[in-house]
Amino acid sequence: MAKSEKKATGKRYKICVVGAGHVGLVASACFAELGHKVVCVDNNKQKINRINKGRMPFYEPGIDELVKKNIGKNLNFSSSFAGSIARSEVIFIAVGTPPKSDGSADLSSIENVAATIARNINSYKLIVGKSTVPVQTGQKIKETIKRYEKKKVTFDVASNPEFLREGKAIYDFFYPDRIVIGIESKRAEKILKEIYRKIKAPLIVTDINTAELIKHASNSFLATKISFINAVARICDLAGADVKKVSLAMGKDKRIGKEFLDAGVGYGGFCFPKDVEAFIYISQKLGYSFDLLRQVKKINDIQKATFVERVKEYLWILKRKRIAILGLSFKPDTDDMRFAPSIDIINFFLKEGAMLNLCDPQSNLEAKKIFKTGRQVKYFRNPYRACEGCDCICLVTEWKEFKDLDLKKIKRSMKYPLIADGRNMFDKDKAIKLGFEYIGVGR
Ligand code: UDX
Repeated sequence: MAKSEKKATGKRYKICVVGAGHVGLVASACFAELGHKVVCVDNNKQKINRINKGRMPFYEPGIDELVKKNIGKNLNFSSSFAGSIARSEVIFIAVGTPPKSDGSADLSSIENVAATIARNINSYKLIVGKSTVPVQTGQKIKETIKRYEKKKVTFDVASNPEFLREGKAIYDFFYPDRIVIGIESKRAEKILKEIYRKIKAPLIVTDINTAELIKHASNSFLATKISFINAVARICDLAGADVKKVSLAMGKDKRIGKEFLDAGVGYGGFCFPKDVEAFIYISQKLGYSFDLLRQVKKINDIQKATFVERVKEYLWILKRKRIAILGLSFKPDTDDMRFAPSIDIINFFLKEGAMLNLCDPQSNLEAKKIFKTGRQVKYFRNPYRACEGCDCICLVTEWKEFKDLDLKKIKRSMKYPLIADGRNMFDKDKAIKLGFEYIGVGR
């Protein structure tokens, strides 16, 4: 077991985590593993009942085991807010902040939690924002609690943004690049430092506004890196250069770094698309027009359409052509379909009348909620079966299950051997040698 996962020896805090989504559930299990006494509350009773029976609401490597290990000991799940809040010393808010149609973050769940805390506050509490929120939300939480509080008690508000990646969430919790805490009082700083004392990582202490902004700036910068390399990939296509080599050489420069320089069909997921939009929105509201980020978003949108256009250039008419889509989740090791690039790509193909064989190791069930099985859409667990009789294979998510596919076997079963490699995952030379036509992204 990793050092950071050992039981805490110092003060064990009574922590209430509000929200059993990706951030809340992972944080709850990890705080419990650190030795704190945790209750995770969510108003979705069905979800809580399922977790109590050992069924996790999403796929995340390691979460089942961690919950199983701590449940009933350091970790409990409940849909009763009043008691859970009253009994806790520290309350982490980890509810969703989904995008509204104008791009701003919907903060109604945050307000709701703040009002619930106000109604149930009975002694000093430290209330910590963990959800990704626009700068100045901490101040609003404070005002809301003051507005609705039943009893006059001292409390502190803090911000502790979460940087975990889906699919690597538990690792990221225990081995973060940094821990950011935005505070207004020494008392809050001391508590948060104690909560995280077992984790060896640089601790950055700031005011609340700065901590909130760090999260938006970090995610937007990463999205910018991806859109930058995707734009370079377009130029590589036009000029006959290889973006993989360009990003390899760029990444060797320590000031640039190799991470997040993989060209592909664009970024997706529940963080980057909504955080970029929310950052544009809040910047505008504060008086700055963040045009750079507008372009980042535009490049990302165009990336998916361009991918489909390139397939069209090869197949000409897409109507009734059968296309295998390998990978549906927004990235590997998750079943999350939220804002997955596959959704736009599939919609483009469906509009053109193509017949689609969809295949993902984890997210077929989630995908079926968006694209029902029917005349144009079929689902496969087995990628070989998915490719049979197809005019084209589109690799959209780079699952390791697809990396080692026997392309020779696949080619034999296809109607027309075309690979559109949306993640530059296959060995291009090998595929061409086997007789495939190959479309990459910028190579
Ligand atoms: C992201 C941040 O990494 C994390 O710190 C934050 O807390 C939440 O948002 P996540 O959404 O889980 O995490 O996914 P991430 O691994 O960052 O990938 C986001 C998207 O970018 C995926 O669609 C991925 O395929 C894409 N991507 C990533 C690229 O297209 N190219 C790259 O080089 C890297």
